[in-house]
Amino acid sequence: MANPADQRFIGLDIGTSSAKGVAVDAGGAVIARASADYPLLTPKPGWTEQNPEDWWQAACEVLKQLIAAIPGPVEAIGLTGQMHGAVFLDAAGDVIRPAILWNDQRTSAACADIEARVGQTRLREITGNPALTGFQAPKIIWLRDNEPEHYARLAHVLLPKDYIRYRLSGVFVTDASDAAGTLLLDLAARDWSEEILAALELPRAWLPDVFEGPEICAHVTAAGAGDSGLPADTPIVAGAGDNAGAAVGGGIVDPDTALVSIGTSGVVFAHSDTASPDASGELHCFCHAVPGAYHLMGVSLASGGSLAWFAQKFAQDEAGVAERLGVNLHGLLADEAATVAPGADDLYFLPYLAGERTPHMDANARGAWIGLTLSHDKRHMIRAILEGVAFSLRDSLTRIEAQRVVPQRLLLGGGGAHSPVWRAIIAAVLDKPVAVQRDQEGPAYGATLLAAVGAGVYADVNAAVAAMVTLPDDFEQPDPELVAAYTPRYETFTRLYPALRDAL
Ligand code: XUL
Repeated sequence: MANPADQRFIGLDIGTSSAKGVAVDAGGAVIARASADYPLLTPKPGWTEQNPEDWWQAACEVLKQLIAAIPGPVEAIGLTGQMHGAVFLDAAGDVIRPAILWNDQRTSAACADIEARVGQTRLREITGNPALTGFQAPKIIWLRDNEPEHYARLAHVLLPKDYIRYRLSGVFVTDASDAAGTLLLDLAARDWSEEILAALELPRAWLPDVFEGPEICAHVTAAGAGDSGLPADTPIVAGAGDNAGAAVGGGIVDPDTALVSIGTSGVVFAHSDTASPDASGELHCFCHAVPGAYHLMGVSLASGGSLAWFAQKFAQDEAGVAERLGVNLHGLLADEAATVAPGADDLYFLPYLAGERTPHMDANARGAWIGLTLSHDKRHMIRAILEGVAFSLRDSLTRIEAQRVVPQRLLLGGGGAHSPVWRAIIAAVLDKPVAVQRDQEGPAYGATLLAAVGAGVYADVNAAVAAMVTLPDDFEQPDPELVAAYTPRYETFTRLYPALRDAL
C-alpha cells in the first residue's frame, strides 16, 4: 500500500464570505490551508447575492496557493459550499444574473405558489421539507415571475459549489446532500422528482446530474487546469453541502454523535439511516454525504450571532478590557455571565434576532428579553442570551429525537464551543455529554475525506473517518444540578414565542 503521506487530497468550500481550501494527506494531516474573500451583495433589503465569477476567481486563488504548497500530485479534489443558492446559466454556460443566496428572503410569493401547485403535505413527503424562502426552487420561480427576460434565457440552474465544478470540468453535476436543499429532489429516490418538476413546469434538462458525495463525477479539463493550477485530469468527487461536509469532517457518520455548531447560526446535525422527514416541517431532512444515508438538521439563525450582536452593540467597555488583556471578547462576556446564578434571576431571552427556522420557520420572529426587573444587570442579560440560545438548540434536538434519532453525545463546533460556561449550559439544557471538535477545519476538511474515498484509498466514508478524523478523548457530562434547574425553564421558554407571536 502507498505511504499515506504521499497521497494528497484537496477540499474546497465555497462559503458565504470566502472560498476556503485545505490540502491533507491520506492520514488526515493538514498540509496546507488557503482562503480568499469575496463580497456579499445586498441590492435591496432582504436580498443577498454574489457574483459566481467572484467565487471562481477566489477558488482559483485558493487552489493555486494549495498546489504551490503541496510537494507532489493530487489524487482527487472534493467540493463543498453554501447550500440552497441559485446560479442561473444560459445555453452557452454564461451567468445570466448574480446568484441568489441561501439567506435571501425575496421569495415568499414563490413559496406560496410552490405549496399551492404541489400541495404542502405532498411537498414534505417527497422532499422532506416545507417551501422555505432560502431554498433554490422558489428562486427559479421568482426569476420566472420577476425577471422574465432572464428566465427566457435559462438553460442550467446550479448550486454554488457546482458552478465551480462546471468551470473546472465543463460538466453539470451536483451531489445528493446539496441537491436535497433545492426542494426539487425526491429524498427517497435521491434523484430529481418528476412530480415536482411537472407541477412547477421546470424542465429536467436544466438540472445537473445527481451523484453520491464520494463518487468521482468529473475531471479537470485543460482550460480548468490553466485557470486553477490543478493538474488536468484531476478527479473531482461530487462532494457535499457545507453542513454535510462539516459533519463528515467531524466524523458524524452514524446516529450516536450529533454535531452542534454554535457559529453565527446554530446547527444541530444528526445522521439518520433512513429518510425520516418531520411531518410538521419544523426540521430539515436532507440526504447525507454518506451514500444512502440522510440527516436531520435544526437551524437557529442567531446563536453565536446573538452574543456577537450584544458584544457589538452593548459591550464597548468590555471590548476595551478584552483588547488590553488580549482575550476573546465573547469569552470574557460569557465569564461575566457565570457570576450570576443559572436562570439569570428569572430572565429569558428569545434569540430570534434574524427571524427563526427551527422550530418556528418564521422569518418575522423577533428577539426579546422577557422578565426584566430593576435588579437585573448586564451579566443577567448575557446569561439569558447563553441560556436562550441553548434552549433554541434543544428545540432542534427535541424534534430530531421525535424522529427516533437519539444521539448519545454531542460534538460542539463553532466559536461558541470554546466558552466553558456556554458548554456547561448547553450540556445541561440538552442533557447530553459534550466535547469540542478537535480540528475545526470545517466543511472543506470533510470534502477531502470524500475525495479520499473517491480515489479508492478508503472503501467508504466510515473507513475514511476512522483513518482521518481524531475524535475528542473525553466528553464532559452534564451537571445534574444544572439539568434540574433548566428542565422547567425550558418548558417555560417553549411557551414564550407562541404567546408573543399572537400578541404582536
Ligand atoms: C443550511 C443553510 C446554511 C447554508 C450556508 O440549510 O442554509 O447552513 O448552507 O452555509
